[in-house]
Amino acid sequence: MYTQAMDIGPREERAALRSAEEAQLEAGFDARIDAGSFIEAKDWMPAHYRKTLVRQISQHAHSEIVGMLPEGNWVTRAPTLKRKAILLAKIQDEGGHGLYLYAAAETLGTSRDEMLAALHGGKAKYSSIFNYPTLSWADIGVIGWLVDGAAIMNQVPLTRCSYAPYARAMVRICREESFHQRQGYDALLAMMREGTPAQHEMVQDAVNRWWWPSLMMFGPPDAASPNSAQSMRWGIKRLSNDELRQKFVDACVPQAQVLGVTLPDPLLKWNEARGQHDFGPIDWDEFWRVVGGDGPCNRERLAARVRAWDEGAWVREAALAHAHKQALKEKAA
Ligand SMILES: [Fe+2]
Ligand SMILES: [Fe+2]
Repeated sequence: MYTQAMDIGPREERAALRSAEEAQLEAGFDARIDAGSFIEAKDWMPAHYRKTLVRQISQHAHSEIVGMLPEGNWVTRAPTLKRKAILLAKIQDEGGHGLYLYAAAETLGTSRDEMLAALHGGKAKYSSIFNYPTLSWADIGVIGWLVDGAAIMNQVPLTRCSYAPYARAMVRICREESFHQRQGYDALLAMMREGTPAQHEMVQDAVNRWWWPSLMMFGPPDAASPNSAQSMRWGIKRLSNDELRQKFVDACVPQAQVLGVTLPDPLLKWNEARGQHDFGPIDWDEFWRVVGGDGPCNRERLAARVRAWDEGAWVREAALAHAHKQALKEKAA
């Protein structure tokens, strides 16, 4: 993911007094955005644009690395060597996505240490989807199909984001995400086509548990997402939360039919007049509860990240010591 469009910005910043020079720079910036130009790291940008991007890209990076945890849980229990190798490769990709994204955010002047401190201190958010548990092997397939599928829907428009380093990172990430989505769907197809009735039930149960949280991945409804408009104005966001969610539902319905599973929504039906599916209400109380830290696995996920950081201290120290020695050697040569 796994952005969640929660980029709510501080009003005081916009209200701050601006010098005439700044106003001119901002007018030039707006004109570039309107012309569809990309903004590079060294270009002038409004402080609020910078802050919005740091928040969004770092949330996205955190989501990639926290997203490794629910799947890592199944590496030792994957049913075949082939599935284990695929799952390992996918989890490794997610770690790589985190690294590209931290690097993209660093171009805006915030260090990786600062971003990680915000995550570990519980101040920074990551996608709420990763606070749900992976209870069966079918969950791994469903995560690929629905969670990576929702991520693709969210992220493809980001390849045209106005901030060039983020857009470039997203091009590579999106290519890998499509492999993730397919491996998940393929694992589910194998279970549905060649599996036992118990395996079919396992897939249906996983779909039942992940469907609604997947729809929440697009963030709150447009009406409750007041700063989305500013992000759209700046070309950071290209489609609204509700538009993306609708596209995702419309894409999933035929895929569910091919799989032979039922999406757990009695109100889901084709609306001929709209040319789209209608679907039932989302439990936003649950969404805000999980975002607020009270989901099924929030504490476990954060504790795992903090432990990994602490236990990795010697690696960081060794790398720094090595770099220091190399620099001394080069100086002496
Ligand atoms: Fe990813
Ligand atoms: Fe992925």
